[in-house]
Amino acid sequence: MPSNKSLLVLPGDGIGPEVMREVRRVVDWMDRRRRVTFDVKEGLVGGAALDAAGHPCPDKTVEAALAADAVLFGSVGGPKWDSLPFDRRPELGILRLRKDLGLFANLRPAQVWDPLVDASSLKPDLVRGLDIMIVRESTGGIYFGEPRGIGTRPDGVRHGFDTEDYGEDEITRVARVAFDLARKRRNKLTSVEKANVMQSGRFWREVVTNVGKAEFPDVELSHMYADNCAMQLASRPKQFDVILASNLFGDLLSDLAAAVTGSLGMLPSATLGAELPGGRRHALYEPIHGSAPDIAGKGIANPSAQILSFAMLLRYSFGMEEDARLVESAVERVLGGGLRTADIMAPGAARVGTSTLGEAIIRELDKLAA
Ligand code: IPM
Ligand code: MG
Repeated sequence: MPSNKSLLVLPGDGIGPEVMREVRRVVDWMDRRRRVTFDVKEGLVGGAALDAAGHPCPDKTVEAALAADAVLFGSVGGPKWDSLPFDRRPELGILRLRKDLGLFANLRPAQVWDPLVDASSLKPDLVRGLDIMIVRESTGGIYFGEPRGIGTRPDGVRHGFDTEDYGEDEITRVARVAFDLARKRRNKLTSVEKANVMQSGRFWREVVTNVGKAEFPDVELSHMYADNCAMQLASRPKQFDVILASNLFGDLLSDLAAAVTGSLGMLPSATLGAELPGGRRHALYEPIHGSAPDIAGKGIANPSAQILSFAMLLRYSFGMEEDARLVESAVERVLGGGLRTADIMAPGAARVGTSTLGEAIIRELDKLAA
């Protein structure tokens, strides 16, 4: 008997709902054609939730996320909500989910697909075959550290401050995820910090080194200052396999790595929590791109990153490697076949909209599974 797997879908704002519609087709296709059934619930997050329910991440959404096997997240934010106070901003939607579900390991692949090698800002030789995995810590560091605030110093000068604070346990658990992934890939881990100026960076390096020595002596570990890593990513990205970074550095470096691939509309991500009793773990999957308000509602957004996020969901939440590859191959074949959304348009290709690309992916799935 096929087992039911529960998904919470959170389209959010901007292009989120448009690209999510195309994922729903892929989910329906899986229901029809593979030995799996998904129970899909939809929830509110971001500006959409603020407008409809008064909070960017309502309790109901958190409860549904905790109950689901996996969460598929769209994107949040937009000019409409830009001037709101901190505790009402749409971004709180994703931050609260990461925190409340304990999603501490954010996996951000930066991959260059062969048909898209010319989309990169770098020369084709520098990026052909590029395949990096950034593991970004995502429930700690300066994003959540205390004290934080805007206040007045004793001398009367106003100031703004945040705190970078990492516990040994927080570094250890995310380092384990990174080492483990490296082992399944090319066995190379680069850990990134600013040990030259930050105490938290020195500590990060010490802890990662210890985890490596004790548990992963077979994985080749190196350390790099975050600024140097940015330069190396922008000039010789293929030297990297897995990169491990704090919440803030990982945020910056993953955008940079995405830009190097030249196709933000292609990149998915997974954010995983600790293993729960029974082997399940909370997990959320989202595209790297944001809500892209400038093109929202026009039907031209690239649905690939959202669909590839669903492929990651199949792989990491359900161990459905074969199905994940099927979805990835379908996307690759559509691009190889010359259909392109505006963001990855190339000379000689046919420019299509969101739903046409989605339909083409379904057709490729049909062919691949025939
Ligand atoms: C990301 C985004 C978020 C972050 C924002 C939307 C809060 O930039 O997922 O990279 O900074 O983590
Ligand atoms: Mg970011």
